[in-house]
Amino acid sequence: MSKLVRGFRDIFEPQSNLFTELENCARGVLRRYGFSELRLPTVEQKELFVKSTGETTDIVQKEMYSFEDAGHRQLAIRPEGTPSVVRAYLENNFTQAAPVQKFYYIGNMFRAERPQAGRYREFEQIGAESIGNSAPAADAEMILMLKDIVSAFGAKNYSVKINSLGCDKCRPLYRQALIDFLSQEKDTLCENCQTRLEKNPLRVLDCKVDGPRFAGRVPTMTLCPECQAHFEEVQRLLKGKIDFMVDPMLVRGLDYYSRTVFEFQAGDTSQNAIAAGGRYDGLIKSMGGPATPAVGWAMGVERVIASRGEVPVPPQKSVYVASLGPVCHEPAFNLMQALRQAGVRTEGGLFDKNAKGQMKQANRCGAAYALILGEDELAQQEVTLKDLTSGEQKQLPLATIVQEVKKLV
Ligand code: HAM
Repeated sequence: MSKLVRGFRDIFEPQSNLFTELENCARGVLRRYGFSELRLPTVEQKELFVKSTGETTDIVQKEMYSFEDAGHRQLAIRPEGTPSVVRAYLENNFTQAAPVQKFYYIGNMFRAERPQAGRYREFEQIGAESIGNSAPAADAEMILMLKDIVSAFGAKNYSVKINSLGCDKCRPLYRQALIDFLSQEKDTLCENCQTRLEKNPLRVLDCKVDGPRFAGRVPTMTLCPECQAHFEEVQRLLKGKIDFMVDPMLVRGLDYYSRTVFEFQAGDTSQNAIAAGGRYDGLIKSMGGPATPAVGWAMGVERVIASRGEVPVPPQKSVYVASLGPVCHEPAFNLMQALRQAGVRTEGGLFDKNAKGQMKQANRCGAAYALILGEDELAQQEVTLKDLTSGEQKQLPLATIVQEVKKLV
């Protein structure tokens, strides 16, 4: 028998209901903020992620599912959504016709990370990208929209951290200061950070091993006056609307960020980011488009769900239809269809089983009521309605049963 691949999961009800609930919650808020849904492909050119997510990132170096197809094309199964949104934006010429765009996407992402609690190889993201707006108001709007979604869903005990990574003017100076500082500590760095030191020194700050050791000791970033003003304005707009903390150690693991970055964190495991994002003003130009500012985020659906705790969504009460004889099968089948057309969650149709077998199944599937159609009932154009919790039952006219059941469920 075939087995599930490690790091991948089957998600059954009631857990799967939580995904739908969060998606619905997000859709409502995203529409209110003027975002439109973009359905993206799962497979892209490998090069798209190498160039945008970043050649030196863990995602591209170690975690990307990439392959060569029959036409010798180098492809990848998407590890994140932002590069695809930018590709779609450029490929469909939004730059000319309507450069300001707000997109959202919902879909599964794939990263070959070592599986552990809260870290999966296939996971769902809900993401939003606001393209074409360089104002600090766009950053603040994105953060507040994310808060509206997670709060409406009922996520609790999360904290919000923000930071600014500066721009092409101020970051290189900081990068160098960091390299100078970390070089003195080189021997004490973990293996990963020894490599990061040259290629991506900022990443040492959020290394789970080395980061905490340097908190409070590393040189801090001096933003250029424009980045400083931008960051202050973002904070001013957020004040009083959301609790947040400025964390100079927050650097994010993707290459494209500039200026504002943020994370919503919950729980005390190392996989504590329930959602994260930031500004990426240089990415669109680096992908061949005109210089276009952008800011976005993505939430890890599984992690947002976990941060709310297991509150199962009460499924709609269901009704089970049983037939007690061959002449009743067709009327019972028609009744099931009529109930479904009326919006009632209906089970049944196991007419190859006897009465006992059908009632056993009614209980097994968690139905709240059973509708039993036997030859006597059919002769009188009635049906027996049984409350499966209390065991009470009564006869009701077949003609009005659908309306009666609708009132109950
Ligand atoms: P990211 O930080 O790589 O950013 O992922 C965003 C969120 O996806 C994380 O905060 C986490 O909740 C969830 N996530 C990531 N990896 C896993 C995993 N292996 N298992 C479960 N959940 C995971 C991005 O993907 C950027 N595209 C966000 C963005 C959009 N920045 C600008 N626009």
